[in-house]
Amino acid sequence: MVVKEFEKRILCIGAGYVGGPTMAMIAAKCPQYEVTIVDINTARIDAWQTDDLPIYEPGLLEVVKQVRDKNLFFSTEIDKNIKKADIIFVSVNTPTKTYGEGAGKASDLQFLEKTARNIISAAESDKIIVEKSTLPVRTAHAMERILNTNDKNLHFDILSNPEFLAEGSAIADLENPDRVLIGSRETESGIKARNEVVGIYANWIPREKIITSNLWSAELSKLVANAFLAQRISSINSISALCEKTEANITEISNAIGTDSRIGSKFLNASVGFGGSCFKKDILNLVYICESYGLNEVAKYWESVVEINDYQEKRFVKNMITLMFNTISEKKIALFGFAFKANTGDTRESPAIYVARHLVNEHAKLTITDPKAIGNAKEDLKPYLKEDISSIQFTENPYEAAKDAHAIAILTEWDEYRDLDYKKIFGSMEKPAFIFDGRDILDHEKLFKIGFNVSAIGKPLMKHF
Ligand code: UDX
Ligand code: ADP
Repeated sequence: MVVKEFEKRILCIGAGYVGGPTMAMIAAKCPQYEVTIVDINTARIDAWQTDDLPIYEPGLLEVVKQVRDKNLFFSTEIDKNIKKADIIFVSVNTPTKTYGEGAGKASDLQFLEKTARNIISAAESDKIIVEKSTLPVRTAHAMERILNTNDKNLHFDILSNPEFLAEGSAIADLENPDRVLIGSRETESGIKARNEVVGIYANWIPREKIITSNLWSAELSKLVANAFLAQRISSINSISALCEKTEANITEISNAIGTDSRIGSKFLNASVGFGGSCFKKDILNLVYICESYGLNEVAKYWESVVEINDYQEKRFVKNMITLMFNTISEKKIALFGFAFKANTGDTRESPAIYVARHLVNEHAKLTITDPKAIGNAKEDLKPYLKEDISSIQFTENPYEAAKDAHAIAILTEWDEYRDLDYKKIFGSMEKPAFIFDGRDILDHEKLFKIGFNVSAIGKPLMKHF
């Protein structure tokens, strides 16, 4: 048998939301490279080798199937794969610290540091190490110090190649990104390493979209991109509160301001709040870094983006309770959607977690429906319900969820919620029936005519009593 010689061996440490799809795309676009993904989580690695992948992402399975066992491999043998790799992407998790100095704000870098130590102990040759996880600015400096103080006389070039993909559209984002950013030390060896990684992406991305920068700019750009995006949502959400008081309509405002080419139309959808693993974490990270440099005003400015988001979630729940005659005790409420956004099963930092917890605190009976996120929803709510998870029902069928309910709250903008038979749903509900549209995706006039009392983010209230 002739063993195929690959041009380059690429390793990715961490088989999660970032590492999995990114490496699958590199393997698909670069058949000349061998791409291996390793993880300490055996169940995750096993799942990547089946048709039931550990993460849901439209189009991902097709890409994985095209390359799996050809030039894309999954493994738990970390040391062996470190040894043979030329380039190592690091995409381990960097959650917000829950203990000690910086708890609640700073990133917990323990997984990253363990990975660095793993690389030193297993490596037998020089390597390029690429940070893919979102990290505080200057993390590469710490990585350099750990990696390059080895007693094996090995040299590691550390690069930053932050991932800008959004969940739910990961495959399209990877295939046709707005840009790829690669930061390095501006030394001869740093630039050579950077060019190697540019060469990978140049297999399918036009060269002008591959931006290079210094290491710190690349690290910080990722935090700043997420902070700006989240800030737009908090800005529009803050105005949605004012709309509800003044009979202005937030969708009309988004349209009106979005046509200004300087403002742009994207990311102006008012909502119950932003979720996802990145926005809050990255902003808090930015806040922590600013504070640590004594930039307290800058820290405060960005922290307010998170504060408005918390306020929006609270406001949504408070409004539900107030409108439902100040008590929801024993009332059945159907939550439509639990994922932090449509087209993903991911529920990390989903506003639905906050909403569900608070409704349960008020003794409401919840039925949660979501096409992809019920498994995660159960896990998220377990700690708050102690042993009594049975006080919340779960169903994939929205009609069943709404039956006998006093209210429906739309928490995720799944397309399928737009086209349900709301007349039929209204007929099956307790009266007066309420709809709280936390995503502004429904036809509110139509719902009101059917008989619903409709309260939507940033819209005039429509009620029959
Ligand atoms: C984000 C960034 O977009 C991506 O570039 C980065 O790599 C990771 O973080 P993601 O968290 O997957 O991606 O989702 P995104 O589409 O940005 O949405 C984040 C949250 O904001 C969701 O809860 C979404 O529902 C909410 N959102 C988004 C709004 O409430 N209104 C909007 O107009 C847009
Ligand atoms: P992200 O959204 O950033 O991709 P995930 O939590 O989805 O984050 O994935 C990170 C992955 O990294 C997890 O599957 C985790 O098991 C893995 N991981 C964490 N530490 C290590 C390590 N030292 N070696 C290998 N894999 C690791």
